[in-house]
Amino acid sequence: MENFPVINLEKLNGEERKATMETIKDACENWGFFELVNHGLPIELLDTVEKMTKGHYKNCLEQRFKDLVASKGLEAVNSEVKDMDWESTFYLKHLPHSNISEVPDLEDLYRKEMKEFALKLEKLAEELLDLFCENLGLEKGYLKKVFYGSQGSPTFGTKVSNYPPCPTPDLIKGLRSHTDAGGIILLFQDDKVSGLQLLKDGKWVDVPPMRHSIVINLGDQLEVITNGKYKSVEHRVIAQTDGTRMSIASFYNPGSDAVIYPAPSLVEKEAEEKNQVYPKFVFDDYMKLYAALKFEAKEPRFEAMKTVEANPSLAAIATA
Ligand SMILES: [Fe+2]
Repeated sequence: MENFPVINLEKLNGEERKATMETIKDACENWGFFELVNHGLPIELLDTVEKMTKGHYKNCLEQRFKDLVASKGLEAVNSEVKDMDWESTFYLKHLPHSNISEVPDLEDLYRKEMKEFALKLEKLAEELLDLFCENLGLEKGYLKKVFYGSQGSPTFGTKVSNYPPCPTPDLIKGLRSHTDAGGIILLFQDDKVSGLQLLKDGKWVDVPPMRHSIVINLGDQLEVITNGKYKSVEHRVIAQTDGTRMSIASFYNPGSDAVIYPAPSLVEKEAEEKNQVYPKFVFDDYMKLYAALKFEAKEPRFEAMKTVEANPSLAAIATA
């Protein structure tokens, strides 16, 4: 098996630009995942976010998680748990409107650092969208324009998670297998406690922890827009028996009113003839469907949206 793709973004500025763009292309087409180093986010900012996230978990969330585990009897399960994940999570919204000032129990400095962190990630996501445009032969700004929808903003948020040590990782997953619904996912993950795996050629492959890197993966919307040239890939988190894993995943997604459909220049004649064209839909309708089917395969979601496209009066039923 080839090595997990690691991309040094600084190399885009030098004579290795072409080779670096090739690696990004290969990662998008064959992995759905890659890891970025020298991505432009300051190391000090990453260190502060990590320290404050871990401190906040210890002070505010750890006991709550232990109480939940005790109340559900999860310490002593003896068969596979299929309707829960072994994770402690909270969400921050950034765009179109920030909710950081309203999220309870956060120190002011933590709010400030997370705002700064999100701004830098937003910029990085938009940089990546343009690199994808270049690799796909789309005009610069095409993907960003699709994501901005008619209201001029993507949806951008962060899921802050911790995966505490688990006595039975074979019976309860840290996070069950799924593909991500949206656009680009930017993950700042623990550099010591591993656990994230992606499915490649039928085998689970570890996403290696690497200090100060940002892991990127592609969501279902990029698969639709590229008509399957890029793929969203199944992934999961295996809880560890030792150590708490920090995982800060930021989701750069289309605006809720954005209309998503394959870029016409990426739909080959052959795909058209074989009826292998991905559907056209409003992103919010996809998300309503996804909310109920996150842990199911993505293909039936695409099929459901095709049915809606052919018969718009079914929208309310498909996404109810
Ligand atoms: Fe995910």
